[in-house]
Amino acid sequence: MSDPTTLIPPGSDTPACGPPILDDGVWWVTRHADVRAVLTGVNFRVPEAAPGPPATLAWLRGSVARFSGPGLHPARRAAAVAALAGCPPDALRRDAARLTAEELDRDPLAGSARGVPVRVLAARLGLADPAAAVPAVALVAAAYQPGAGPAAVRDADRAVAALVAMSPAEPPEAMANRIGLLVQACDATAALIGAAARYAPAAGRSVPTAALLAEVLRLDPPVRGTRRIAARADRVGGQSIAPGAELVLRFDAANRDPAVVSAPDRFVPGRSVLTFGAGPHGCPGERHALALATGVLDVLRQRRSTAPAVPANRPAVPR
Ligand code: HEM
Repeated sequence: MSDPTTLIPPGSDTPACGPPILDDGVWWVTRHADVRAVLTGVNFRVPEAAPGPPATLAWLRGSVARFSGPGLHPARRAAAVAALAGCPPDALRRDAARLTAEELDRDPLAGSARGVPVRVLAARLGLADPAAAVPAVALVAAAYQPGAGPAAVRDADRAVAALVAMSPAEPPEAMANRIGLLVQACDATAALIGAAARYAPAAGRSVPTAALLAEVLRLDPPVRGTRRIAARADRVGGQSIAPGAELVLRFDAANRDPAVVSAPDRFVPGRSVLTFGAGPHGCPGERHALALATGVLDVLRQRRSTAPAVPANRPAVPR
């Protein structure tokens, strides 16, 4: 990719960008303006999770901002944002760089640095055993979206109990939202680092890490989309959406919308679009994710002329 305008075609599973399409009872929303309108519209809700017994996966899902309707969401989001205040992005970047360098000193071939972001965040969030938090958070992340199988839910239940035991004492809802930060950070940040590490050698050292990350987020978003339910009738992109309808919002398609980005399939470092969402549920950890990824990648790029073999780990669109 020494030519910075290399063509990166969309993945075979990325839908084309166009007007909303109703397919098998679900609306597929792919244009930038339409995705943004749904994310910021008052008539669309995240799928809500019911409460569950203390210190279980169901408790976590039923307590976090991510799965809360408009009544409970503001207080829960405020709890998450308050916990994030203890994690200044500059400190996260430094911690992530130090830990990555230590891992590579121990094993220069260690490909992953995969656990670094969660370990750094867990330490800053005050968890008693940040290293042990890494596998626990991964188990919870694997079952966090609806539709996980019973074995994954059992593992996640045990992992939530372990994370609760190592979290600072605070009211249950604050604790759930603190743990929720780790779960939200886990797969997406690792996938961003993995994708950026794959693109980095071809992009060349002259491309700053921030610019590389922005364009990787646009062209190969670690979170490819999200879902909403219509609480009331509305119109999106000229289509009538009935109350109760389900919508899949595809960031990967919207990020290549020619209405907002020129030459959308070309790799031009520095561009960024919708990958962190928008509206009331938009990612509160964007600066933190970028800081963690920058810390890891700066070290990987310094130490390596070729990218480590980091497995692709793009989470599917949540159910
Ligand atoms: C590259 C990494 C990341 C990406 C691409 C990403 C993307 C997103 C997106 C798209 C949403 C909105 C989902 C929706 O509206 O349905 C979201 C929500 C959220 N993210 Fe991130 N995220 C990343 C990393 C992080 C990190 C590092 C943290 C915490 C430090 C974090 C915390 C959260 C939280 C708490 C929510 C739920 C917010 C709410 O519902 O009010 N994310 N993220």
